[in-house]
Amino acid sequence: MQDVEAHGFRIPMVGLGTWALRGRDCTRVVEQAIRAGYRHIDTAQMYDNETQVGEGVRASGMRANVVVTTKVQPERLAPHDLERSVKESLARLRLDVIDLLLIHWPNPRIPLSETLGAMANMKLAGYVKQIGVSNFTVALLDEAIKVSTQPLVCNQFECHPFLDQDKLIAATRKAGMAVIAYSPIARGNAKGNEVLERIGKVHGKSAAQVCLRWLTQQGIAVIPRTSKVERLQENRDVLDWDLSDAEMKEIAGLMRTGSRIVDWAWSPKWD
Ligand SMILES: NC(=O)c1ccc[n+]([C@@H]2O[C@H](COP(=O)([O-])OP(=O)(O)OC[C@H]3O[C@@H](n4cnc5c(N)ncnc54)[C@H](OP(=O)(O)O)[C@@H]3O)[C@@H](O)[C@H]2O)c1
Repeated sequence: MQDVEAHGFRIPMVGLGTWALRGRDCTRVVEQAIRAGYRHIDTAQMYDNETQVGEGVRASGMRANVVVTTKVQPERLAPHDLERSVKESLARLRLDVIDLLLIHWPNPRIPLSETLGAMANMKLAGYVKQIGVSNFTVALLDEAIKVSTQPLVCNQFECHPFLDQDKLIAATRKAGMAVIAYSPIARGNAKGNEVLERIGKVHGKSAAQVCLRWLTQQGIAVIPRTSKVERLQENRDVLDWDLSDAEMKEIAGLMRTGSRIVDWAWSPKWD
């Protein structure tokens, strides 16, 4: 499996998203994904499945080789809350350490310097290995980099061919951080897209694979979710073949306004 490197930390190019995976199905898909070669599992307190994700990771017998990411909810970003919440996540996951801890969404009511200070403390105390952010804009990234005493290894945000994220990708990279694309197959909407299907036929691949390849070929790590064990291999097979320059350009042309899936507007609900 290829990796993206940031500040010496290696993030596998293809991971498994787990939003909306629940119960025994979640445990099973996580375990099977790791057995199939996945080395990055993405969860969050908000997904209410850390217990099942941890079970799946342990059941795989390969915990030491897997990057487990979890995220702190925006309403728990004050230092004391954050510390408690990280300990709760670890207790649910029942793992030795959180490999990558992210701020799930920014919270304008809590100073970023305080949150990042608490995250640095959790890292220095050995609860987490690396820290990063999610859903940060260019302006927030700038602020985060200025105030963080520890390196931030990634910005995880919505990224797929239908959405123009060029500025955010450039800013994330300029900061030496990895870009991790969430909703990388546009919540399944890659399937059935005329351009992606047509290009897929040329390569003997599915539209979802073309979509994921478009991202990974740009050095963007992806975390597609599937509840179907039979799709795990398909979504992973996006690293050892190439789209042509003309195909990359044509796929980039799918960008259109109003194509965001995850609504950023909900995040500042505390305003
Ligand atoms: N940081 C954040 O704020 C944030 C926000 C959103 C998501 N995320 C993370 O990113 C992960 C991925 O994003 P997502 O879950 O929103 O969407 P996604 O991965 O783009 O799409 C998942 C959907 O695509 C379907 N699918 C999977 N593989 C497929 C294939 N090969 N062909 C056709 N359809 C396929 C799945 O259905 P089946 O189950 O039937 O396969 C599911 O309905 C999440 O699970 C979560 O871990 C983070």
